Amino acid sequence: MIGTKTRVYGVIGHPVGHSLSPLMQNHCLERTGADGIYAAFEVEPERLGDMVRGAEAMGFGGINVTVPHKQQVIQYLKETDRIAAAIGAVNTLVPVPGGFKGYNTDAPGLKRAIEEAGVTISGEMCILLGAGGAARAAAFMLAEEGAARILILNRSLEKAVSLAEDVNRVSGRSVAEGLTLESYREISEGSYLAVQCTSVGMHPHTGHAPIEDEAFYRRIHTGVDIVYTPAMTRFMQLTKAAGGRTVGGLDMLIYQGVIAYELWHPELKVDQETIAQIRNMLREQLEGTERP
Ligand code: ATR
Repeated sequence: MIGTKTRVYGVIGHPVGHSLSPLMQNHCLERTGADGIYAAFEVEPERLGDMVRGAEAMGFGGINVTVPHKQQVIQYLKETDRIAAAIGAVNTLVPVPGGFKGYNTDAPGLKRAIEEAGVTISGEMCILLGAGGAARAAAFMLAEEGAARILILNRSLEKAVSLAEDVNRVSGRSVAEGLTLESYREISEGSYLAVQCTSVGMHPHTGHAPIEDEAFYRRIHTGVDIVYTPAMTRFMQLTKAAGGRTVGGLDMLIYQGVIAYELWHPELKVDQETIAQIRNMLREQLEGTERP
């Protein structure tokens, strides 16, 4: 029942029409019995400050932030979590006295998806494909979790080098190196955890992967793709064909939402059954959108 005690939550974006967050978050609210509703709000970039002040004035319980607001919203916050500040992007706002504190749950969402696959990041040799916004969150997370090495391979070398420099500066150790995509040929022996953070292979361009060479995939013990449309990307297919384990982007999407939910409701836990239900709901939803 929606009443005077019901708290309002939501996701802001531009556009926000395809967001899966309302489906996921309302299911969490329902299953945990919290008195809240979660909606999607289309916010123009120039109204971002108004939005934050308005949501604070109206006592919103929490907000998710999606493209293109993840960086720009930081200037309107009371506080920003250390890792989110290093990444330079927030996707979750939690109410604090006088405003909101910003967090990035994409990074811990990815961490949880990788760990659920049985991989401990600490001490891992990692390859990151891409150097955009998503790769940035992944790179900082891998460094924070104690990866032994992070080779950042990107189409444009300068972005890879710049991201590696940022990671090394913030983590205080020279763990990351920026390289071109073709440099996979020169990577020294070893078995790697690879995280695919480019947009290559995303629906409707599903026949592509950033690297096609089978020799590359033989070096990967686990291939994680942050792309979730399709559920099985070409990068994952190639990893699997070479004998590696795969993790799809849907798990990261689910866990970033669950972690956001638990930041808003520290007293509540989203159980495994709820997570499994959400996975099914999102799969169904995505299958619908992938059909021609
Ligand atoms: P996101 O926020 O989703 O990470 P982004 O910041 O635009 O999006 O980054 C997209 C990433 O995909 C970049 O690493 C980009 O490579 P460049 O930095 O060279 O642009 C990568 N990418 C996009 N299209 C690509 C393609 N056709 N081949 C290889 N890499 C590609």
